[in-house]
Amino acid sequence: MKAVVYHGLGDIRLDNVREPKIKDPQDAIVRLTASAICGTDLHMIRGTFPGMKPGTILGHEGVGIVEEIGKDVRNLKIGDRVIIPSTIACGYCAYCRQGYYAQCDVANPNGPQAGTAFFGGPVPAGSFDGLQAEYARVPFATVGLIKIPDSLTDDQAIMLSDIFPTAYFGAALAEINEGDTVAVFGNRPVGQFAIASAKIMGAERVFAVDNIPSRLEMARKQGAEPINFDEVDPVERIEQLTNGMGVRRVIDAVGVDANRPHSGPAAEKADQMEQQFKQEMKQVAPKNKPKNGNWHQGDAPGQAVMWEVQAAEKGGTLSIIGVYPQTAQFFPIGLAMTRQLKINMGNCNHRKYIPSLVSLVTGGIVHPEQVLTEREPMTSAIEAYKAFDERQPGWIKVELEPAMTA
Ligand SMILES: NC(=O)c1ccc[n+]([C@@H]2O[C@H](COP(=O)([O-])OP(=O)(O)OC[C@H]3O[C@@H](n4cnc5c(N)ncnc54)[C@H](O)[C@@H]3O)[C@@H](O)[C@H]2O)c1
Ligand SMILES: [Zn+2]
Ligand SMILES: [Zn+2]
Repeated sequence: MKAVVYHGLGDIRLDNVREPKIKDPQDAIVRLTASAICGTDLHMIRGTFPGMKPGTILGHEGVGIVEEIGKDVRNLKIGDRVIIPSTIACGYCAYCRQGYYAQCDVANPNGPQAGTAFFGGPVPAGSFDGLQAEYARVPFATVGLIKIPDSLTDDQAIMLSDIFPTAYFGAALAEINEGDTVAVFGNRPVGQFAIASAKIMGAERVFAVDNIPSRLEMARKQGAEPINFDEVDPVERIEQLTNGMGVRRVIDAVGVDANRPHSGPAAEKADQMEQQFKQEMKQVAPKNKPKNGNWHQGDAPGQAVMWEVQAAEKGGTLSIIGVYPQTAQFFPIGLAMTRQLKINMGNCNHRKYIPSLVSLVTGGIVHPEQVLTEREPMTSAIEAYKAFDERQPGWIKVELEPAMTA
């Protein structure tokens, strides 16, 4: 079968690989019909989320059809259409039972303290083969697959594998209540769905901070108030628009590849932090391999979290869903403490949220397909990756219909 395979930093290829087989009675094999590319995939190829083993199939977003099931999987049958949650969880340990699926004690082969197990990730996440492939093995399929109605299109369903649940989880961690003022830093797919989720939870005003005009425009169309950090100082602008208070809830949908402003009034402050940013870059990615304009790491890993803490009002909440590697040790702890902020963070407990988000979509309350900007056949997967790594506005789905992968 064809699959997108990680070979090294800045080196991914569409390879022919062996099809997966059932290894455990709790497994299922899924024939994928759609997959997609996430900001997390980019961190791994850029080297800012380290530990990828060459030969690992990439991808942790998938929709498909059950092809084969192990003998202990009783709630599914061959031919069922399913969403695959990105994180792998047993469903029966104490953490899973409380909804902490991303902290499952059982799924990560590195042991209970190793953290989240997910498809297409690095060694510490279990090195599971991912979902940018024609077929995938799904462990613990009883909870690791979610049956979906025919009325849900692949364009909608693929958003429910990772992006929408992560954003919704981020809004939940931000403790958004009716009437709240919110700032979402990073306006790519996760940020766009964080805006939508904040609104579902009753947020009154949502500020959207990024520096790519097409992404800010998409945020504005959702009713958010865009702030371009290459044009204005985002913290000053948020203060000005909130009568000096700042925002009650802040969501980080940026992660380790954060960039600093290169023009406008905030650029000067960033110039003064140049040395600090350089040190942070060394901390998070001692090695990287940019090539022909692709796979550049962000130039200011701590910039977004710095602004987020500065923009939060006293007693407010910061929710971090942008991914930071364990080597990242920068955070403005003193200011956060002074402001008495609450800080919640982590990888999404996908399984907890997907079923209710499916209902929001089938009920017509959310139209996730509107964020989709590109559809590519699998034969163009590597080009799609490069485009996603560059300055594309929205999000790319990789279609895996057999006709297209031939
Ligand atoms: N916690 C989880 O379970 C989980 C799941 C999925 C994705 N993620 C993470 O969410 C983050 C967003 O992913 P994505 O798929 O939306 O694409 P992405 O990583 O490309 O999006 C990052 C966005 O942040 C913007 N940005 C850069 N520097 C900024 C700054 N200083 N201030 C404000 N915005 C800035 C970029 O222009 C871009 O639009 C990534 O870090 C990804 O790894 C986490
Ligand atoms: Zn992801
Ligand atoms: Zn578990």
